[in-house]
Amino acid sequence: VWLILGTRRRRPEEPPVENGVIPYLGCALQFGANPLEFLRARQKKYGQIFTCKLAGKFVHFLTDPFSYHSVIRQGKHFDWKKFHFSTSAKAFGHSSMDPSDGYTTENLHQTFIKTLQGDSLGSLIENMMENLQLVMLQSNTLKVASREWQTDGLYAFCYRVMFESGYLTLFGKELSSQGDKIAARQEAQRALILNALEHFKEFDKIFPALVAGLPIHVFKTAYSAREKLAEGLLHENLRKRDNMSDLISLRMFLNDTLSTFDDMGKAKTHLALLWASQANTLPATFWSLLYTIRNPDALRAATDEVHRVLEKASQKVSLDGKHISLKREELEDMPVLDSIIKEAMRLSSASMNIRVAKEDFTLHLDGNESYAIRKDDIIALYPQMVHLDPEVYEDPLTFKYDRFLDENGREKTIFYHKGRKLKYYYMPFGSGITMCPGRFFAVHEIKQFLCLLLSYFEMELVDKNVKLPTLDQSRAGLGILQPTHDIEFKYRLKSP
Ligand code: HEM
Repeated sequence: VWLILGTRRRRPEEPPVENGVIPYLGCALQFGANPLEFLRARQKKYGQIFTCKLAGKFVHFLTDPFSYHSVIRQGKHFDWKKFHFSTSAKAFGHSSMDPSDGYTTENLHQTFIKTLQGDSLGSLIENMMENLQLVMLQSNTLKVASREWQTDGLYAFCYRVMFESGYLTLFGKELSSQGDKIAARQEAQRALILNALEHFKEFDKIFPALVAGLPIHVFKTAYSAREKLAEGLLHENLRKRDNMSDLISLRMFLNDTLSTFDDMGKAKTHLALLWASQANTLPATFWSLLYTIRNPDALRAATDEVHRVLEKASQKVSLDGKHISLKREELEDMPVLDSIIKEAMRLSSASMNIRVAKEDFTLHLDGNESYAIRKDDIIALYPQMVHLDPEVYEDPLTFKYDRFLDENGREKTIFYHKGRKLKYYYMPFGSGITMCPGRFFAVHEIKQFLCLLLSYFEMELVDKNVKLPTLDQSRAGLGILQPTHDIEFKYRLKSP
């Protein structure tokens, strides 16, 4: 009977188990309804580690942040690739990118580090700065010509500007064919990207269902959206583009030389990167901007900082076509914006860090406790428990723009839990080996977006006392949560 129902009897050296009441699903429904509440209640009942059955898998949740290090350190017992590779193949529809499955010999991790960090980061940032201003000021994405107030949804606004700029930065711009008028070409290009944006939204909506294991064929519209997005990223189409990022050009080369993927298979590996580069960035940008304009102290401090940095870099805000340019070092000298972005992500991030046990082994935790873990079990960290812990962050649900600033106005890195200094207090980008390789670019692009908006535009919420939208929990575990609804705001170009 135990075997048929797939429940587990706890062995003495194992963490306490909760099998849930429903065979196979186990606790998945209760967990899904409100993961934070679910985990807090179990933590109270069982302590720092416990096992839940979720959709057929046994997941050990580790809730004590002092023990996070044990998981990150005991890497040899864990397989982090299997879960990532299979999730990606399932969601985007490419063949496995795990070299041990035989379709490619590319070391993806290395590709990411090489092309999203170091020198490549510099050119990503430079292109993003240019593209953001192109989209904000020159294209018709925003109706800025008239200097009249424009009303828009704040999320819709962030989504359009960041998606279009980010797409151009990763995949480059279409090469001109001779004789085309520049304006007509730009508009044709924009129409294509806005089309891609609609497909992206449609596909992203069902992303949690795909991760949970539902087949994409169940969702006709989303399936067709995914295929259309991928068609735009076929190598033959990408070859018509100029000024592509190192990431995509290297990945094209490696797809062509090291893999046996077919054309659509290759395109779908690029789609995976489009998703990784946008899905978290879009809501993170929204929360950063919303908290900034809703909070007068934050708005003042951010505006002052932007003025200081522009002045130091001898940059003037003008509307005669000359763009603002800020170097990487200049962007890195903005502790107030850093703190705002961190605080906005602390409040909206709900990622889950997952490792799979390669073998039976003993997991040693902080404070000399040890537990037996079985092969194929999952160990999960849920950093939102730390991000919203009142012992670590006072008034955890309140936005404090300077929470990550120390008394000298520099980055604050010292946070305590139970009187001890914490190493892992901020983890929206994951941890250890699976930490997001795009995290530096992500923070830079949000900062660039805020810098440019504060320089060029006046902005106001339509209802200054509007309540914050709630977080859409259906995406809990996947990263930055989206708002359940949009907020109206208005903007217009500043007078020169
Ligand atoms: C993976 C967060 C932006 C590229 C991840 C992971 C998280 C994350 C939590 C998974 C880590 C894990 O499994 O433990 C974020 C957040 C972002 C952001 C919060 C924005 C606010 C970006 C951007 C790019 C990017 C802009 C690229 C341009 C990637 C890639 C992976 C990844 C390629 C997969 C890494 C691998 O499997 O080896 N990100 N990310 N991310 N991210 Fe990001």
